[in-house]
Amino acid sequence: MEWVYTQPVKIFFGSKKLMNLSRILRELNLKNGLLVSDPFFTSNGFANEIIEYSKGLLIEVFSDITPNPTVDNVDACIQLIKEKNIEFIAALGGGSALDCAKAAATICMTEYPTADFLSSKRNVPKEHLPLIAIPTTAGTGSEVTATVVLSDINRGVKAPLSSDSFYPNYAIIDPALTLSMPKHTTASTGFDVLSHALEGFWSKHHQPICDALSLHATKLVFDNLLRAYEDGNDLYARERMSEASVIAGLAFSLPMTAGVHACSYTLTNMYGLPHGEACAFVLDKFIRINAEAEDGRLHSFARQLGFTDAFDMADRILELKKATGMKVTLEDAGIDIHDIENLAVMSMHPDIFNNPIRISVEMLIEMYQSLA
Ligand SMILES: NC(=O)c1ccc[n+]([C@@H]2O[C@H](COP(=O)([O-])OP(=O)(O)OC[C@H]3O[C@@H](n4cnc5c(N)ncnc54)[C@H](O)[C@@H]3O)[C@@H](O)[C@H]2O)c1
Ligand SMILES: [Zn+2]
Repeated sequence: MEWVYTQPVKIFFGSKKLMNLSRILRELNLKNGLLVSDPFFTSNGFANEIIEYSKGLLIEVFSDITPNPTVDNVDACIQLIKEKNIEFIAALGGGSALDCAKAAATICMTEYPTADFLSSKRNVPKEHLPLIAIPTTAGTGSEVTATVVLSDINRGVKAPLSSDSFYPNYAIIDPALTLSMPKHTTASTGFDVLSHALEGFWSKHHQPICDALSLHATKLVFDNLLRAYEDGNDLYARERMSEASVIAGLAFSLPMTAGVHACSYTLTNMYGLPHGEACAFVLDKFIRINAEAEDGRLHSFARQLGFTDAFDMADRILELKKATGMKVTLEDAGIDIHDIENLAVMSMHPDIFNNPIRISVEMLIEMYQSLA
């Protein structure tokens, strides 16, 4: 077995660690910064507080970002970067704001539209503006990954794009920022964390450091997601979920995601399911599919977490989905049984080839039928 582990992001973790921003701003020694902010934090005034706190180093806010950010969102951000001669970016928000900022910080180095990079017509440049990522969901781990996930509405595509130039320079993880997440977002993003941890573990490119991170993150989710869901003000549970999120981000960033994420992109595209809920929709099914892969290493993973085997862990995930109001049947998700064949074909996204068990369209049809 051969593997390489690398992780270039400087990580600051802890409640009130947002205060590290001034230290980082001094360290960067740059001016003319852009704050790319989730619209939630512009409307509640927090984005403005950060601008004031930066004492003139952040000069503008960009927040024209939709969930599942589009190539057009990125292009609009790049236009502002160029107009204002922006020297660095601070990104505040969930995965959508972070991915928009990561893509803009890199693609602004070129003259081309973002759609050209998502379609692989052009190669992503190696250089990028310095970026500080500040997540406000406990979900994507985007603050430590080399991936952005973008949608191109003209092509009807939602897809990940990876390049080392997308790594942020700094991640500031302040769990207190997640306290305002509504219940449904808490649950959905929490299942994204669980999906990253499990997919990083069963990825064809799994490796020992990431395996250990997967186990740690999975345990934290099982111990804390329901608690954070039931009481959003429970700072201990929020802290542990933020810890799980960044650790799961590190767990999948190199091995990459697999079958669950392949299906999730299509479920979001066709039925509008939020990313984490789309992952949750098929997560327990993929545990059952992948249970026997590579001599049953997923069974041993599950046993280390106190389950009798991987199937027992899948049962617990289904219970957790029900307890947190996730959609669990085709009907809940608005999927017509007659559309399943098309859904299965569309789910054959490149991530599916990273699944430890080889997946066919027929297997996906059967999987989706079992959700009726
Ligand atoms: N780059 C990566 O490595 C990676 C990994 C997984 C997923 N993703 C992508 O990230 C996106 C999803 O990101 P997400 O799940 O974090 O959700 P999101 O960023 O789309 O946010 C979801 C909703 O929650 C709101 N929100 C965010 N933080 C909040 C807070 N603290 N309080 C109140 N409301 C808040 C947002 O305004 C939005 O309405 C998807 O496009 C997904 O494909 C990226
Ligand atoms: Zn994800």
